[in-house]
Parts: sequence; C-alpha cells; structure tokens
Amino acid sequence: MAKEKAEHNGPDLAQGIALSAFTSETLLGHVDDQDVLLVRFGPEIFAVDAHCSHYHGPLAEGLVVGESIRCPWHHACFDLRTGEATRAPALTPLAVWEVEHEGDRVFVRRRREQTKSWVRSALVNLATSSSSAEERQDSQRPRC
Ligand code: FES
Repeated sequence: MAKEKAEHNGPDLAQGIALSAFTSETLLGHVDDQDVLLVRFGPEIFAVDAHCSHYHGPLAEGLVVGESIRCPWHHACFDLRTGEATRAPALTPLAVWEVEHEGDRVFVRRRREQTKSWVRSALVNLATSSSSAEERQDSQRPRC
C-alpha cells in the first residue's frame, strides 16, 4: 500500500514568510506536519496550534479579540500569548510556538515549552464545573 503524503495548509513557516504575507490578522501555515496559526496583534505575532483542543475546530475561522481567539464550533476561548483555555468547553491549552523575526521575515520552527500556568488552568477548569463557581470565575476572565 502506497503511503500518502500528508497535505499541509499554507506556507511552511519554518522556511519563513514575509510580513507582507499577512493580508488579514491571521495566517494559516504549518511546521513539519503541524498546522500552526499566526495571529498578528499590533507589532506582535502569536503562533498557536491551528486546531482547537476540544474537537479540533478550525481556529483559522475563529474570532480574534485582542490577545484571544474563540473557536468557531463551540466557542471555547484561548489566550494567544499562553495558549491557556480561558473558556469552556476546552480544558486543554493550545501549544504555543516560538516566533522569530529576521528582517522583514517571520520564522516558526519549534514549540515553546508549556508553562505551569497551563497546568494550573486545567486544574481550575476542573474545579469550577458547578455553574456558581463558573460564574465567579467568568467575572475574572478576560473577555474574548
Ligand atoms: S471544537 Fe472548539 S470549542 Fe469545540
């Protein structure tokens, strides 16, 4: 049986892209076999996994609000800086990728190490499964 070559979305971000490639606030690409979503926020560019940690919704079709992105399928929300899942139903953070600037090009070559805040976030989400606890936490979360 012939082995099928995986198809990738967008440019190979490890090879770099010109800043002028951004025609909107997001750009979908890949690093090796991982789809990675770049989000431009002012002078910063964030890079996160392109698929939601809930049921793999396409975050490239999501709504970007400030430094967060909302999944188009069930509206989980993620912090673009940390990858933290800040709104259910997602409980698991997104992987965050390192973005390197070289001249007018941007390169994405490797994932950032997960921070302890991701673990803390998952534990907080589990502990707040009751609606009253969720309402309390909701008032402290950044809106997305
Ligand atoms: S697939 Fe993203 S919230 Fe469900």
